[in-house]
Amino acid sequence: MCGIVGILGHKAVAGDLVDALRRLEYRGYDSAGVATVENGHLERRRAEGKLKNLEARLHNEPLQGRAGIGHTRWATHGRPTENNAHPHMNERVSVVHNGIIENFGELKKALIAKGHRFETDTDTEVVVHLIADEMQKGCDAIEATRRTLASLRGAFALAIIFAGEDDLMIAARQGSPLAIGHGKGEMYLGSDAIALAPFTDEITYLEEGDWAVLRRKGAIIFDRSGKQVERVRTKSVATSLLVDKGNHRHFMAKEIHEQPEVISHTLANYLDLAEARVSMPDLGIDPAGIRQVSISACGTAYYAGLVGKYWLERYARIPVEIDIASEFRYREPPLPANGLALFISQSGETADTLATLRYCKSQKQRVASVVNVRTSTIARESDAVLPTLAGPEIGVASTKAFTCQLSVLACLTLALGRARGTISSAQEEELVHALAEVPRHIATLLRNEPSYEKLAHDLAKAKDVLYLGRGSSYPLALEGALKLKEISYIHAEGYAAGELKHGPIALIDENVPVIVVAPEDDLFEKTLSNMQEVAARGGRIILVSDASPDRAGCELEAHVAMPKVHPFTSPLLYAVPVQLLAYHTAVFMGTDVDQPRNLAKSVTVE
Ligand code: M6R
Repeated sequence: MCGIVGILGHKAVAGDLVDALRRLEYRGYDSAGVATVENGHLERRRAEGKLKNLEARLHNEPLQGRAGIGHTRWATHGRPTENNAHPHMNERVSVVHNGIIENFGELKKALIAKGHRFETDTDTEVVVHLIADEMQKGCDAIEATRRTLASLRGAFALAIIFAGEDDLMIAARQGSPLAIGHGKGEMYLGSDAIALAPFTDEITYLEEGDWAVLRRKGAIIFDRSGKQVERVRTKSVATSLLVDKGNHRHFMAKEIHEQPEVISHTLANYLDLAEARVSMPDLGIDPAGIRQVSISACGTAYYAGLVGKYWLERYARIPVEIDIASEFRYREPPLPANGLALFISQSGETADTLATLRYCKSQKQRVASVVNVRTSTIARESDAVLPTLAGPEIGVASTKAFTCQLSVLACLTLALGRARGTISSAQEEELVHALAEVPRHIATLLRNEPSYEKLAHDLAKAKDVLYLGRGSSYPLALEGALKLKEISYIHAEGYAAGELKHGPIALIDENVPVIVVAPEDDLFEKTLSNMQEVAARGGRIILVSDASPDRAGCELEAHVAMPKVHPFTSPLLYAVPVQLLAYHTAVFMGTDVDQPRNLAKSVTVE
């Protein structure tokens, strides 16, 4: 989603602004721009598309200002054109913005009635006019901004600079994250610490409702009520090296291949392998007394949660309520006393997931989160944090974060099962051993990667693809379909295998590949029956299974052979073939694998 950077420096900052924006590229964007204060007036350069277009613009028309802001835009209001790209400005003020100003319609109407003329289709432009309007009435830059912020509704982060103010930048956070970086006589601002890593590791995160006045000598922070507040300064661990692709063609490929290692790290954080026991941090709630676990997340993280539901219900015998965060937040379900609310998020910043977290807190639930970014808002607002140790995930399509989320949920299941007496010590030992084997099995699977290329060439010809699965393989079918559609743009849907005959079977013909995710577990024969139904209608079946192809009892277009593993751990393993199929299909089709069209890595708007 949009990325914000700002610098009060000692020399021309445009180059550093672009470098910082490059570190936010992974979030997804479709245009970019920078503005600086130049001899007292504001100047900007903007470009549609990738940062190289903005760099070319800056090369031809350089900016010299020492105070500046920059932005990568992921379009919400208005098409991704240069005219709608940030910064937005007039002769007094220049603004970059992440998020949505929900009441922009009414504000714009009132401003137009006062004679303001709008140049863009964005919601952001109202901020420029509101501040200018207050300054016109005689307010200075800080007071004009304070008044403007009070009139805005929505979730947003803003960075603002002013004509005639070479040593002033104002930052505001209401729903979208913002980090202040402290340099030596220089100050920085970024959507996250990764953007600022080459300049400083001294970071202050603004809290909800905070706004800050930055000058080269430091920052003064105010809370929502306008009271001056102190916020802690932390040492960021974000590396100054731009995370690179190593020998891989795409970040997604690198991240798929990192899975054996990062799953090992994650499991090692929760398992005592010497004792074959799980060792979870205290969640602050008596596991035996938990009446319900409510899971909420979006996209791939939601599918991880869905696997968690199967596990928690089966092994820990706890009722689990799960919903997509954007639905959960407005459904406002009643939640029982002694409930554990669990949030899953790679970024820890997903707006809908954060909103459900706050709802569950208001309902007196114990709040735990499975997050990859420990400094994120979701982590900071949780009672307990169960980190995934996946490392930075740059590819928009989530891969290693998903399998690390599954790893944490598997360990949580064992911990709760043991505490509730639903699994014995012997079972715990067996399941811990099974989990410990996962990285090795995934490493073996990855050695077989070339075989996916041929399959992918065939998939690339399809217009529609169906994925089927049962039990804990059903979320894998959903995840497989999501992976394929988001990076190859082929229409794909995941279904519970048993649901096929209630509608989707009408889609089956000889042009539709059907990918069946079916480990040879206690549901395998049921899935086989559904596969026969597909075969009888001419569907082209690709079976992903540890069962011999002979067991299929029908013609298969392909068989992806999986190792025999404990059924408990199969979701972790079966994630890999669906990732590889999607990846190679997208590579064959020549799409932008790491930054697919229209998608953002960190979804900070609802
Ligand atoms: O950062 P989060 O895990 O909260 O993100 C949730 C989804 O936006 C994310 O999983 C999305 O669905 C990915 N593009 C899937 O590959």
